[in-house]
Amino acid sequence: MIRNHSPTDLIVALDFAKPEQALKLVEKLDGLPVVYKVGFELFMADGPSFVRELVHQKRRVFLDLKFHDIPNTVARAAIQASSLHVEMFSVHLSGGSAMVKAVADALADISLIRPKILGVSVLTSFDDVRWAEVTKALTGHAVNTDDSVNGIVEHALAWGADGVICSSLELPSLRKQYPTLYAVVPGIRPEGFSAHDQARVMTPEQARLAGASAIVMGRPIIESQDPRELVEKVLKDLSFVPASELTS
Ligand code: C5P
Repeated sequence: MIRNHSPTDLIVALDFAKPEQALKLVEKLDGLPVVYKVGFELFMADGPSFVRELVHQKRRVFLDLKFHDIPNTVARAAIQASSLHVEMFSVHLSGGSAMVKAVADALADISLIRPKILGVSVLTSFDDVRWAEVTKALTGHAVNTDDSVNGIVEHALAWGADGVICSSLELPSLRKQYPTLYAVVPGIRPEGFSAHDQARVMTPEQARLAGASAIVMGRPIIESQDPRELVEKVLKDLSFVPASELTS
């Protein structure tokens, strides 16, 4: 496996129904070098105002709404995401070349600081059996997750994506071809934690060693009795913060 020498970001998924719950976690983690991910649940509950609040607090934000629609619609949504000053946002790569290129072109035309476009390859909740159901239905042929991820990533960068979202299981083969690719990896579980609905999982340290640029963790942190302690431990595993610099 290839060792990733650059720091691996920890992205904390704020998968909450209420903004107050999310802000409470953000406060508990205050001062720790993490990125906050706002996804469907919180965005449906509180819309862009929660994102604005995080940005106002100078937090790093990943808007994970996984856009997937016709090119014009997604490009216009991407402009709105940029106007929120998020650091990155996600689109489904299965939206195809016209959609991803439309997003990249739209962002090239605006004067705001350009967020990273992250392309979702194959969701980490898919295992090979479930993914084969989809690929067989769509194409008549069963394809495994590894081949699909490798196949789509090859196009993603040419289409204008700045990075991809994949599982840690695909990282070793991706890294051989794309040593500097910004690869975001959900489906992360520290030793002993439930995988929930995630199918392709690894521990934070395994993901770092496999070459993750950033890992995403939600439920293990949200459900933890002491989220700060857990996040500090994960940051140590990611070698992001020397143990001596962590507050207890
Ligand atoms: O709770 P858990 O750690 O499984 O959360 C993972 C987060 O990452 C969720 O917010 C989910 O929407 C997101 N995600 C994912 N797989 C992807 C892309 C995003 O699990 N491929």
